[in-house]
Amino acid sequence: MRKPIIAGNWKLNKTIAEAEELAAALVADLADVRDTEVIIAPVYTALSRVAEILENSPIQLAAQNCYPQETGAYTGEVSPLMLKDAGCSAVIIGHSERRQLLEETDQLINLKVKKTLETGLLAILCVGETLEERENGEMLEVLTAQIKGSLADLTSDQMADLVIAYEPVWAIGTGKTASNEQAQEAHSFIRGLIQGLFDPETAAACRILYGGSVKPDNVDGLMAQDDIDGALVGGASLKIEDFSRIVRFGQ
Ligand code: 13P
Repeated sequence: MRKPIIAGNWKLNKTIAEAEELAAALVADLADVRDTEVIIAPVYTALSRVAEILENSPIQLAAQNCYPQETGAYTGEVSPLMLKDAGCSAVIIGHSERRQLLEETDQLINLKVKKTLETGLLAILCVGETLEERENGEMLEVLTAQIKGSLADLTSDQMADLVIAYEPVWAIGTGKTASNEQAQEAHSFIRGLIQGLFDPETAAACRILYGGSVKPDNVDGLMAQDDIDGALVGGASLKIEDFSRIVRFGQ
């Protein structure tokens, strides 16, 4: 009942021309994919050009961040409204790189989630513990605080347009994936949190993606877990063969 999502987070990579080239290759390569939702998230500057390339394809466009205001005196920021205007249907929010490098708090992330949902875009909310937190036995506490803080004041109806990405920080860009069991444990815990904050139906319908060194050779095992509904892919989303294989997991 939960349609899988494979999303590519291109991070700070690709010029406009390179982004157009990769997007065009994906459109050609993934034209027959129906049972999985595919999302790509290029840098801001490439969004509107990539949107044109994706126009008649099922591949959806996401931004990697947003600011929680529509318009105004917020120099350097981009709002969900502007992202929608550029052709986006989704926004990645609260990525660990932003939490760490830019000190984003759950409170700010919560505002971004709300503005994104108000604008009618899909919110892809990232959560995940650092290695130190895991080793100190604080993983569940950290996930609880991130989920509660980021989802504060949301309704069950709004949760229909929100996807969670569990990305253990120690697995991002390190080549060290969480084991299938570690990932399943965290996903099942997160689903339990959603049930406690909302209701069983909302929890059962909520898609939870795994992110952190997802590659062609580990995606099948991860996707076979009960509570893993997709992947948020970094490095491997920049390579057409790897990303295509990940989209076609289990085949
Ligand atoms: P990698 O797949 O490169 O580990 O990155 C994961 C990630 O941060 C996706 O948002």
